[in-house]
Amino acid sequence: MIELKCIYKRYKRGLFFSKSYVDVLKCVSLCAKKGEHLGIIGESGAGKSTLCRIMSLLELPDKGEISINGEKINRRNMGKKRGIVGMVFQDPSTSLDSKMTILSTLQEANVNRDRIEKVLDEVGLRKELLNKRPYELSGGEQQRVAIARVLLANSEYFIFDEFTSALDVSTQTRIVNLLCDINKNRDYGFIFVSHDVKLVSFLSDRVYVLYKGEIVEETRNLSYAMHPYTKVLLKGEVGDADDFVNAGCSFYSFCPYRMERCKKEKPKLRKIGEDKEVRCFLYD
Ligand SMILES: Nc1ncnc2c1ncn2[C@@H]1O[C@H](COP(=O)(O)OP(=O)(O)O)[C@@H](O)[C@H]1O
Ligand code: SF4
Ligand SMILES: [Mg+2]
Repeated sequence: MIELKCIYKRYKRGLFFSKSYVDVLKCVSLCAKKGEHLGIIGESGAGKSTLCRIMSLLELPDKGEISINGEKINRRNMGKKRGIVGMVFQDPSTSLDSKMTILSTLQEANVNRDRIEKVLDEVGLRKELLNKRPYELSGGEQQRVAIARVLLANSEYFIFDEFTSALDVSTQTRIVNLLCDINKNRDYGFIFVSHDVKLVSFLSDRVYVLYKGEIVEETRNLSYAMHPYTKVLLKGEVGDADDFVNAGCSFYSFCPYRMERCKKEKPKLRKIGEDKEVRCFLYD
């Protein structure tokens, strides 16, 4: 299990001598389990990719705790544990090294040629592609190589960050079907991260909704969304997150249901039933 306990991450805004900061993640707690398809949704700027970098051990949080399979992660062990969580990025043309052949890219993850050919077959690629370079492949083929790379690294968890955004619709469908096939026995923990609510909802058993660096809802079924932000997101009516910080609820400025109390007080995540959590005074 990947477990995050009240993670904070803050970045400096603007040039390096600037003293202004942006709080990108604010006390984010979540868990991702083996065999589960987890979704994380939120508009652009919500902090999703920052969360992905922390979950895949590319960065440490400023505050809070991350553990993987029960072991706490720190600066000393993060390098060694990194392979457990594989990451497939949005744009395969930039995540693959253009100077390297597909074979050398895959060999970086695993040198066993038989295993490479088996995985290549699993992701639906021909052996002849091994001697080519990324720019000689289509976008869909490049994304299959990126998936093969994490499979070869024997990762237990895969994070897919906006993994279909750079692909056309029919290629998206083929990649999504491929992922469902790869994890049909639920050997891995898959984490789908996207602003595309429909896609994530279709693929995931459980979803976290991230708004301005905070989890505002956790649910098993987005058809029964409760948080006003999730409802707006489902209607596709949101733009990019602004960085305006409210004293009260972070969704106050846009919320159709806002009350006087929401202006000054911050709602806490409240458990509703067995596997649902919502951060909103409407459910107090
Ligand atoms: N390395 C960084 N340095 C400074 N600001 C960053 C950095 N990474 C992300 N940010 C800022 O954090 C916010 C969230 O970014 P990101 O995690 O990429 O969100 P999302 O993936 O949901 O679009 C944005 O305002 C972005 O500008
Ligand atoms: S706490 Fe208030 S402002 Fe925030 S989402 Fe709920 S109703 Fe809207
Ligand atoms: Mg992102």
